[in-house]
Amino acid sequence: MATYTTAPVPFFDGPVLGIETSCDETAVGVVDRGQVLAMRFATQVPLHQRFGGVVPEVASRNHLLSILPTVVAALDDAGLQPRDLRGIAVTDRPGLAGALLVGVQTAACLSALLPLPLAAVHHIEAHCWAAMLTLPGGSSTDEKPQLPALALAVSGGHTSVLRIDGPDRFAVLGETLDDAAGEAFDKVGKRLGLSYPAGPQVERLARGGDPSRFGLPRGMRGRADLAFSFSGLKTAARQAIDALEADGGPLRPADVADVCASLQAAIVAQLVTICLRACRETGLRDLIVGGGVAANEALRDGLGVALAAEGARCWPVPTRLCTDNGAMVAGLGSSLLALGHATDLQHLDAVPTARPGASARRA
Ligand code: KG4
Ligand code: ZN
Repeated sequence: MATYTTAPVPFFDGPVLGIETSCDETAVGVVDRGQVLAMRFATQVPLHQRFGGVVPEVASRNHLLSILPTVVAALDDAGLQPRDLRGIAVTDRPGLAGALLVGVQTAACLSALLPLPLAAVHHIEAHCWAAMLTLPGGSSTDEKPQLPALALAVSGGHTSVLRIDGPDRFAVLGETLDDAAGEAFDKVGKRLGLSYPAGPQVERLARGGDPSRFGLPRGMRGRADLAFSFSGLKTAARQAIDALEADGGPLRPADVADVCASLQAAIVAQLVTICLRACRETGLRDLIVGGGVAANEALRDGLGVALAAEGARCWPVPTRLCTDNGAMVAGLGSSLLALGHATDLQHLDAVPTARPGASARRA
C-alpha cells in the first residue's frame, strides 16, 4: 500500500539560475522557490533542420556562441543582477558530450566566480520535476503532485516510467527497448517529408485524420512488464507509406493526415497501457508526464481520461515547460540545493549517457 506525504516540495530560498545545453537548445531559466521568473532560449532548430537531425559538432559550437548572451537575457528578464542569485544548476547528463560540456563549463565558471553553490542535474529527472513548478500568473499554492509519484518521461531520446520519492530519489521502473516515443514521431515524420522535430507537425496533421485506417501495432504482445517498444510501430508506419506510394504515387493530404493520426493513436495507446500497468503494480495514484512529447494534447487527454477512470491523477507538465528549457533545470537544482546536495566542482563533468537515478556525486 502506498504512503503519501503532504509536505510541500522543498525549494532553495532564493533565485537559482538553470543552464540546459544537452542537445540543440541553448536554454537558461531562473526559478525562485518554485516560481519560474524567466525562460530564455537560443534555438538551433533551423541550423539542424537542413541535416534532418541534430549534428553534435554544430550544436556545441552554437551553444558556445549563445550561452553567455542567453544567461544575460534571462537575468535581465527576471530583473536580477548576478549578485542576486543564490545558486546555479546545470544539466550534466545525459546528452551530447560537447554540447553538455559548454553548459557544465559555463556553470562551473559562474559558480566559482560569484561564488555560488552548484547543483548538477539529470536532464530526464528535470523534465519530470518541472511538474512541481509554477509559471508566471500561477500561484505556488496551486495543487501539485503528491510524492511518491510515478512519472512518464517521453522525449526525443528517452521513454521511461519512473518512481519519484524526492528530488534526489528517482528510480527507473521500465524504459524503451529500442526507439523513444519522440524518435518514432520524428522518424515517421521525416519519411513523410516533415522537418525535424516532426512531433508538433504530426500532431497538427493528425487532427484531420482517421486514427484507425492502418491498424498500426500498439506495443509488444506477450509482455507484462513496464518496457516500451516503438521500432516495430515505426517500421509498420513506413511500410504503410511505402504501400500508399506504390499504389498511387505521392501521398494525398488525406493520406498524410491518416498516417499521422494512426501513428499518434498507436503511440498514445502504448504509453497509456504501460502507465495504467505501473499505477496498478505500484499502487501509486499520481502520475507526472514530462518531456517534449508530453506537449502532445492527444497524450495529455488520453492519459487524463484513462487515469481518472482508475481513480488516479495525471499531472502533465505545463506545456511551456515540456520541451527542453532552463527553468526545469533551475527547478530541480533548487530542490537539490534545498536538501544540501551541492555538487563539488572537482566532481563536475559532462556524462553523455546515464540512467535517471544515476546522479552526480553530491556533497
Ligand atoms: O524533451 P525534448 O525537447 O528533447 C529531448 O530531450 O529529446 O523532446 C523533443 C521531442 C522531439 O522528438 C519532438 O518531436 C517531440 O519531443 N515533441 C512532440 C511534440 N512536441 C515535441 N511530439 C509529439 N507531439 C508534440 N506536440
Ligand atoms: Zn529533453
